[in-house]
Formats: sequence, structure tokens, C-alpha cells
Amino acid sequence: MRKVTIVGAGHTGATTAHFLAERELADIVLVDIIEGMPQGKALDLTEAMPVIGSDVLVVGTNDYGATSSSDIVVITAGLPRKPGMSRDDLIEANTAIMRAAVSASLQESPEAILIALTNPLDAMAYLAMKEAGLPRARVIGQAGILDSARMRAFVAMELEVSVQNVHCYVLGGHGDDMVPLTRHSNVAGVPLEDMLGKERLEAIVQRTRKGGGEIVGLLKTGSAYYAPAAALAQMVEAILLNRHLVVPASVYLEGEYGQTGIFFGVPAQLGAGGLEKVIEYDLNDSEQAALKASADHVRETIGALKLEVPA
Ligand SMILES: NC(=O)c1ccc[n+]([C@@H]2O[C@H](COP(=O)([O-])OP(=O)(O)OC[C@H]3O[C@@H](n4cnc5c(N)ncnc54)[C@H](O)[C@@H]3O)[C@@H](O)[C@H]2O)c1
Repeated sequence: MRKVTIVGAGHTGATTAHFLAERELADIVLVDIIEGMPQGKALDLTEAMPVIGSDVLVVGTNDYGATSSSDIVVITAGLPRKPGMSRDDLIEANTAIMRAAVSASLQESPEAILIALTNPLDAMAYLAMKEAGLPRARVIGQAGILDSARMRAFVAMELEVSVQNVHCYVLGGHGDDMVPLTRHSNVAGVPLEDMLGKERLEAIVQRTRKGGGEIVGLLKTGSAYYAPAAALAQMVEAILLNRHLVVPASVYLEGEYGQTGIFFGVPAQLGAGGLEKVIEYDLNDSEQAALKASADHVRETIGALKLEVPA
């Protein structure tokens, strides 16, 4: 059995463990600093497995010993947003948490592929890669599958079609200036721009951009976790099953989309080694300008990390 460690056994971490355990892809280790909590959630999940019919092991722990030789480490440890906060407001608190999680994980699993979720996502993925000195293939941030799934859900509701027929691509940084690419999105092959009036489409774009905030506002404590966890599970599966699956994800750019030295949401092909390649779309002037504005914002957030490592 392969092994997947999830650091942070809170809402997103535990829900990811649930989705993964159901798929019977790997044994799972949940790590958290709260005593008893990862153990309790792991035991509860273990007790669900006979009903679900999955023979995976789920272990909860407060130390990293049990995580050794993990194939993938998913990092969800960190504070979530409260109403009124931006993702960038989390940078100070989450930098220390991310640092500790990356270093302890790699000590036990030096060959692991890291998937980051902690916000501000693009900056936290950058921190993980730079401080650990990893090649870009081995650090991937989750944001784009979630943002695109939100847009797909809104389109499917509006047009009353199956979510399986709706293909949307949201690129850029994981902030409110993310870039939903309406021209590249379609319903069963028909361009979205031909299916929806300008006003309806713009309303969906705006709701997608603020999709995370909409959930934070409703929940009042904590942020979204079902859809983020589903997105993480899809990334883990793509890597474990060597699917060569193209998904929107935050990866380190080396010239693609005119950007170098930042983590940024782009279509990324995932397989056994992690990031296999970045797919480049043909963009028009306004799409390029929107992506550049989003990239400038990500660069600013990464700058706030004040890392002493070269770009
Ligand atoms: N990138 C995305 O699309 C996306 C989506 C959802 C959430 N997030 C982010 O993911 C993070 C987690 O969200 P959540 O809803 O699961 O929060 P949560 O509060 O439910 O869980 C976070 C867990 O991390 C644990 N933790 C804190 N410090 C730790 C450490 N040093 N080592 C191990 N565990 C530690 C906490 O005890 C807590 O159980 C937040 O930063 C949130 O903003 C990102």
C-alpha cells in the first residue's frame, strides 16, 4: 500500500482523509498538534471502513514518526480565514506553521511530493519549495481545481445541465483577482460565451472570484472544506495512479505565461513524479492583462515572506 500523510487534521485535512480512504488508494496518516484529535478522527474513519468496504489503514498522530516514507504529503495545517479577512491576512501566522510542517515531513519522507493547501496558497507553496530546496515537480499548490469547480457548479445550476458537461478553467493567483477564462470554458464543447448572456456570465465570474468569501460569510467560523478536500483527493489520485491528468493548479513558473519565480495557477499535468508539464493557452490581450495583474499580486505576497533565497 502507498502512504499519504495529511498534515493538519482540521476541516480540510480530515475531509481529504475521508475522500481518500473511500477510494482505497493509500494508507493515510493524519498529523496535528492538538492532542488526541487526529487519533480520534483516524479511529472514527477506521471504524467507517468496514461499512465502506475499504482496507486502508488510517492512523492519527501528534508526531511525524508514523509518517515515514510517505509518497505524498498534503499540507493543510494553518489558520483559516474569518469573515472580513483576505487570504493574505493569514501570511504571518501560517508562515511558521508551514515551515515546521515542511521540515518535519521531509525529514521522515525525503522523497515525498508535497501538495500545499494552506493560505495564502501561492506564497505558502513558494515557501515550501524554496526552503526545502525541492525541484518544482515536487511541490504543487491546490487552488485551481477548487476555483474552477465553483465556476462549474454555478454554470451547471444556471443552465440545468450535468456538472460533468461543464468545463471551466480558472487560472492565476488564489485570490479575488483570479482569472476565470470564459473563452476557454465550455458546456459539452459549446463555448460558455455562446450559452450564457454577457450579464449572467459576468455574474458567475464575480461569484466564482468571491466563492471562498461567500462560504466564509455563511459559516462564520472557518472556511470551505468539502470542495477543497475533493480537489486535494483528485490531485493525490492523479499522482498515485500516474494519470497524466491536466488540472488547474498552482505551480512554480519558469517562463510559462511570461512569468518566472512565482507559484501561479495554470493548467498543470500531474503524474507519478508530480508536475509533468505546464500547458500554455493562447491568450488574448485582456486575458493576458488579467493574468499579469494577478501575478503582480502574488509576487507582492511572496515578497512579504522576506525569504533570503533567490527567486
Ligand atoms: N488553497 C485552497 O484552496 C484552500 C481551501 C480551503 C482552505 N485553505 C486553507 O487551508 C488551511 C486549513 O484550513 P482548514 O479549514 O482545514 O482549517 P482548520 O482550522 O479546520 O484546520 C487546520 C488544522 O491545522 C492544525 N495545525 C496548526 N498548526 C499546526 C502544525 N504546526 N502542525 C500540524 N497541524 C497544525 C490545527 O490544529 C487545525 O486542526 C487554512 O490556511 C485555509 O485558509 C486553502
